[in-house]
Amino acid sequence: MPGDRDAFRAPVGTHDVLPPESERWIDVVVRFADRAARFGYGLIVTPVFEHREVFERVGDATDVVRKEMYDFTDKGGRDIALRPEGTAPVVRAFVQHRPTVPWKVWYLAPNLRYERPQKGRYRQHWQLGAEAIGVADPEVDLEVIDLAHGFYRDVGAPARLLLNSMGDAESRPAYLAVLKEYLLDHAADLDPEFRERVEQSPLRVLDSKRGDWRDVIERAPQLTEYLSDAAQEHFERVQRGLDAIGIEYELAPRLVRGFDYYTSTTFEFVTDALDAAQNAVGGGGRYDRLSEEMGGPAEPGIGFGIGIERVLLAVQAATGDAPARGLDVFVVGGADPVLVHELRESGLATDEAFGGRSWKAQLKAADRAGATFAVLLGAEERERGAVAVKRLDSAEQQEVPREQLVGWLQEQLEQSS
Ligand code: HAM
Repeated sequence: MPGDRDAFRAPVGTHDVLPPESERWIDVVVRFADRAARFGYGLIVTPVFEHREVFERVGDATDVVRKEMYDFTDKGGRDIALRPEGTAPVVRAFVQHRPTVPWKVWYLAPNLRYERPQKGRYRQHWQLGAEAIGVADPEVDLEVIDLAHGFYRDVGAPARLLLNSMGDAESRPAYLAVLKEYLLDHAADLDPEFRERVEQSPLRVLDSKRGDWRDVIERAPQLTEYLSDAAQEHFERVQRGLDAIGIEYELAPRLVRGFDYYTSTTFEFVTDALDAAQNAVGGGGRYDRLSEEMGGPAEPGIGFGIGIERVLLAVQAATGDAPARGLDVFVVGGADPVLVHELRESGLATDEAFGGRSWKAQLKAADRAGATFAVLLGAEERERGAVAVKRLDSAEQQEVPREQLVGWLQEQLEQSS
């Protein structure tokens, strides 16, 4: 239980987003929204909690569901879980509403996982994501990868693409049998947890970052050697497509994404700006059976999720702290709500000091706000129906007739942009 002192702090593993960093936050969101619209994706908003079963489909053997879910029984006795990831709710919505396919949606959503917090890993993180349901063609794999790939470039945090295939319903069982046998053959030399994990889910073991297991994992047979002809052909077409549009990738045969729903193409975007344990700034893949598993039509799907906090850490590493967005105008020298209203309505970012502070204090506030111009409402100018306008970077000052002020400022700002 938190002591009194901690009760009024954001809970461990969560954080507030404040200005000026929040400007980068919204910039990242807007760029993604813009890009998603250009690719033909519409916004979807789903509840922050779902029936627990929705997420059980994501994989009982995964840590996200087994250990990290914020779940509880509500006052009506329902088993509820707070969203730990974005794909299951989207597929649940697809199954519920049966939209025509292809169904292409994007989202911005908080996700909750009871993880051990550290830099880049939080108990609440935000994701930007996209899902395309109803298309089996490798072209849609390309589309979603292209959507994510260009986003990292747009926001100034270029990321490397790691690519793998998890095989289809034909290839997976044969591989799992070979993998399990191999891992159990090596279990005797390792601690009992290893055997336990192998019995639970051999694929999850490949995911592990445990140093003492590394040797065994690195020599394990690879899924891509066991792909069925159809899965192999699909995987090759995705690679040829990426080559054609000039997106570089690294084949990553040991890339096992953390959920059971994945089939076929899987991928992750990593950045060198973050520690290796948290360097994934996004990831995704196909989930061709999830709709059916939720009682919906047998429609394939593919998508990805991008962690906003990690993207912002990578952007910050590349470009330094967020600059405060400057205002266009700061009004100094007394209350003139009509003028402030007019300036704002004409599209100029405008602020003023409240509370009748001294001129000096108001000019200081204008500087701190990073305003380009201060509009000074002096008594003498007021009598002449004018205002004084000061450029804050050069301290140049001139008188402008009150009724020409908006046009004059707009012109000046345009010239200096
Ligand atoms: P995920 O890999 O679990 O996939 O999460 C996607 C991204 O969210 C990660 O690459 C990372 O950037 C960020 N992320 C995940 N957990 C945390 C955390 N605890 N703190 C900070 N950032 C985090 C999914 O969630 C899948 N739903 C992606 C997907 C969509 N697959 C198909 N469609």
